[in-house]
Amino acid sequence: MSAPLAQAVHAAFQQRFGYAPLLVRAPGRVNLIGEHTDYNGGFVLPAAVDKEMVFAVGLSGSTWIRLVAYDLNETFELANAAEISPSATHWANYLLGVAAQFQLRGHAVPGFDCVFAGTVPMGAGMSSSAAVECGLAFALNHFLKTGLDKLELARIAQFAEHTYAGVQCGIMDQFASLYGRAGHVVRLDCRSLDYAYFPFDTTASRIVLCNSGVKHSLASTAYNTRRQECERGVAVLQRNHPEVASLRDATLEQLDAHRDELGPVVFRRCAYVVQENARVEAACRHLEANDLAAFGQEMYASHAGLRDDYEVSCVELDALVAAAQAAPGVFGSRMMGGGFGGCTINLVAPDQVDAFIASVSKVYQEKFGLKLETYQTTIVAGVGVISSEQLTVSS
Ligand code: GLA
Repeated sequence: MSAPLAQAVHAAFQQRFGYAPLLVRAPGRVNLIGEHTDYNGGFVLPAAVDKEMVFAVGLSGSTWIRLVAYDLNETFELANAAEISPSATHWANYLLGVAAQFQLRGHAVPGFDCVFAGTVPMGAGMSSSAAVECGLAFALNHFLKTGLDKLELARIAQFAEHTYAGVQCGIMDQFASLYGRAGHVVRLDCRSLDYAYFPFDTTASRIVLCNSGVKHSLASTAYNTRRQECERGVAVLQRNHPEVASLRDATLEQLDAHRDELGPVVFRRCAYVVQENARVEAACRHLEANDLAAFGQEMYASHAGLRDDYEVSCVELDALVAAAQAAPGVFGSRMMGGGFGGCTINLVAPDQVDAFIASVSKVYQEKFGLKLETYQTTIVAGVGVISSEQLTVSS
């Protein structure tokens, strides 16, 4: 947690609203493997990381909602908290959508004030939006004394994204932000919502993110289109295999048997999802066996599927993965998140990190004339209150 950032947000709140807020931190996430599987009832393997959003929140004592995006130096105000609706102010929707979800569940939301800022890069596939949603959901749960558990908060945040951001996302990002555990990745079964933590030692393998700088727009329909294509695939399979409720239940043999009915595009989408689920399970076995080389091979295969079959990669991401594959000390590399830009995730031997960054940056500069931004991340705990001790730590 960045104490200076939390101090700045705290001070901005005090100055603007004149009373003491609750301070909350909400991390972004990485995903080691299991992409576009969450909304197909499949497996994912994310972790919360030390790129975080920080919130100062308090009840305003009136009907007003007053929101301040500290990084943007922008304010949004709404006179009556009982009349929340989607706004033309893009960033405000992630917060308003969360408040609206509490209301939908029958919890009256009084006026509140919120200042937020963060270090999760926007549009980098690290779930800055989920962090924003989860942080406020946690704070409102505290103030409204609603006593909702973390899963319900994750759902609130996910539905906020569906309804106020227009992205029919799965639950991975919000789950990771809320359920993160320091030093662990979490395997989530998105059908049963069972989960298990696996230790991940970032001193044995660093998690290095390479930001392509290409902005993905998840809402740009491509994401929602993928989801619809998967649903079409399930509908075709169900005619012959009523037990197939989602692609999680499907097999490659079934897909092959109905190739013509599925058509080439839907077939490829579905085949990717079925294979990616198997890769997550294999990757977890490799992690337990401490076999990072084998784990990395699953990551490369995941990228190939996302590029060729699911078609959510782009030339910049493909070039970053190819450059990583050629660099020394890299266990695995692939695009991460929804796709169409954002970051690659790379597992790199600690003593090779500098050489890795230098060589990939050089390739990126030569190929695209772009300066590569990279982040070395560590795995942290999920959403929580920032204590006064944490606030006063100087760093
Ligand atoms: C985005 C969505 C997630 C998930 C990933 C792809 O991050 O928010 O729900 O579908 O894309 O794995």
